[in-house]
Amino acid sequence: MSWNPEQYHKFKADRLAPFNDLFSLIKVREGLSVLDLGCGTGELAVVLSEKLPMSRVTGVDSSPQMLEKAMAHSSGRVEFKLGDVASLSGEWDLIFSHAVLHWIEDHPALIPCILEHVKPGGQLAVQVPSNHYHPSHTCIIAAASEEPFKAALGGWVRHSPVLEIDQYARILHGCGTTEFTVMEKVYPTYLPEAGAIAEWTKGTTLVPYFERLPLELHEQFVERYRELLREALPRGPILFTFRRILFAALKQAE
Ligand SMILES: C[S@@+](CC[C@H](N)C(=O)[O-])C[C@H]1O[C@@H](n2cnc3c(N)ncnc32)[C@H](O)[C@@H]1O
Repeated sequence: MSWNPEQYHKFKADRLAPFNDLFSLIKVREGLSVLDLGCGTGELAVVLSEKLPMSRVTGVDSSPQMLEKAMAHSSGRVEFKLGDVASLSGEWDLIFSHAVLHWIEDHPALIPCILEHVKPGGQLAVQVPSNHYHPSHTCIIAAASEEPFKAALGGWVRHSPVLEIDQYARILHGCGTTEFTVMEKVYPTYLPEAGAIAEWTKGTTLVPYFERLPLELHEQFVERYRELLREALPRGPILFTFRRILFAALKQAE
């Protein structure tokens, strides 16, 4: 997927709260080998290296655009590599993944695969958006189902693969993790009006639609999406409620 780091960073501050919540689920120890899976532009990998004493962090991401920005943060304790979640290698004390796995299908198979790369006694910490029932998402699918967008997309729409929290608990339990926490939280953002949600989703959910739509339909698509948002949500300033699932698990020591 073709990510735009500048657009993604417009709401950087709003994304710090879930990072801090996820970090609070990690058992901090010295000298951890850490994999930041889907590290994006690398800022969170740096924060991880600062908060985890004597640890080494490797950030992996499949987007050359995001990774190019991340490389600027390389240091003795943080390195970045181009790579895909589908081809993980090595074993890690901590695998950390923030706002990434919702781009990958089949979580009942994915989470056990990732856990195979956590060392015995190590940890997995994941945050995924679970806001797919909110108009910010449903209005994209509604716009994509109308012409001329439907024909241009060949009927394609994207449904989130994110599961309910109890399903993640069952998956983690089924993998033999000894301790786990799974929770869902609403992160509020205040926006001047409903249509402003499009600025947020332009850097995330809309990206695969832009990839499939011809350039001349991009602005028309976003405008129709904004109209649907304004119909679905209250007029004037709005509270944009953003649901996210966070989970952390400790793998059984050998
Ligand atoms: C929303 S950004 C999150 C970046 C960073 N973790 C953060 O929270 O700021 C999602 C990132 O996941 C990466 N990504 C998506 N699918 C991936 C995959 N299959 N393998 C590796 N990275 C992936 C994207 O390239 C993008 O940089």
